[in-house]
Amino acid sequence: MHDQPPAQSAALAGPPPELFTWEFATDPYPAYAWLREHAPVHKTRLPSGVEAWLVTRYADAKQALADQRLSKNPAHHDEPAHAKGKTGIPGERKAELMTHLLNIDPPDHTRLRRLVAKAFTPRRVAEFAPRVQELADQLIDQFADRGSADLIHEFAFPLPIYAICDLLGVPREDQDDFRDWAGMMIRHGGGPRGGVARSVKKMRGYLAELIHRKRAALPEEATPGEDLISGLIRASDHGEHLTENEAAAMAFILLFAGFETTVNLVGNGVYALLTHPEQRYRLQKSLAAGETDLLETGVEELLRYDGPVELATWRFATEAVTIGGQHIAVGDPVLVVLAAADRDPERFDDPDTLDLGRRDNQHLGYGHGIHYCLGAPLARLEGRTALATLLTRLPDLRLAADSADLRWRGGLIMRGLRTLPVSFTPTSPGLS
Ligand code: HEM
Repeated sequence: MHDQPPAQSAALAGPPPELFTWEFATDPYPAYAWLREHAPVHKTRLPSGVEAWLVTRYADAKQALADQRLSKNPAHHDEPAHAKGKTGIPGERKAELMTHLLNIDPPDHTRLRRLVAKAFTPRRVAEFAPRVQELADQLIDQFADRGSADLIHEFAFPLPIYAICDLLGVPREDQDDFRDWAGMMIRHGGGPRGGVARSVKKMRGYLAELIHRKRAALPEEATPGEDLISGLIRASDHGEHLTENEAAAMAFILLFAGFETTVNLVGNGVYALLTHPEQRYRLQKSLAAGETDLLETGVEELLRYDGPVELATWRFATEAVTIGGQHIAVGDPVLVVLAAADRDPERFDDPDTLDLGRRDNQHLGYGHGIHYCLGAPLARLEGRTALATLLTRLPDLRLAADSADLRWRGGLIMRGLRTLPVSFTPTSPGLS
């Protein structure tokens, strides 16, 4: 029973959509509606040349995310010889990146995730709230009196980088290096080429060195406010610890998984609010009344409506599986399209409507199953702080470009804007 609002019926009745074009990057939702309706588990050729299954319905997506016959380990990819090294599948890159959570299965995944969960606790994140607030304010201070800004480069991008560096315990004087390396990675889409590979290498080298130094200087007892890298070194489970290599891979994946996602949560979120004025004023009114309920449901709704992770990361069938009635052969890559699942009318009422107060909202924006986002508490803290601070300090914030002129990054996994020009009445820095 896929009933559609009238506006979508025309698109749904039309021919199969072209995927991965410029129009698709700008607004993939009509194409996903077509796929959900006509080809919910659909084999397609990706821009890299590799063929993969796209899973677009909510129920199928949830099942696939929890199905352990779909491995995260790229060694299970039945890769054609002509595509070797060209597909962008992470396993084709440096082996040292391979030990992180998103590329491994149980039992290794279970062991590493249990260890990191001991260090990266919701409590540690909650204690970090004042620092995230301070960072958001400092960044806004830098452009508040100008009356205009690019919110991606001046706010959404630096906020998570400085936040995660602080949380990990990267000294402040080194954090601008991280900003540069991360900038290179985000600008060039995380591909294996030149500058990106150099930036990844520098970041990894730096983290390995920092971990080595911190381990040597680690006091016997944990002190309150100890940084996350020290927590990772200290974490133990039944006498097991992370090795230095594992700790470095873990610190790297925390940075890598927690950075562009949060940039896009803030970027896509602010863009959605500025293009839905009634929802934005609803939120501003609620914030002015000192309420937090709408902010909390609102950030979840923004994740569902236009979340940062368009497709979950790669999965590979280790045996033949059937998803949504479709047979998937051993070795086939499977990409779960979170953005399509989260607009499925079978699961959500009025899925194409942004409703910040939506209650029944079990979206898949953070994934599902054993790889469910480890950083969700931090992402929520950053998302809520960023949006509340912007809307409170710059109450007449408005888009300073036509939506049609905004450019979306065309990467496969993430969805986010390249720039987000805004204008507002200038205020003095430090005044909220
Ligand atoms: C996993 C989304 C922020 C760390 C995931 C997955 C999704 C996701 C969808 C699962 C991928 C899959 O199953 O293929 C998001 C979104 C974020 C966000 C939408 C921001 C709004 C963060 C942050 C951190 C983080 C801030 C850490 C600092 C991780 C890690 C994993 C993960 C380590 C792998 C977990 C595992 O494999 O066990 N995230 N994430 N994420 N995320 Fe996030």
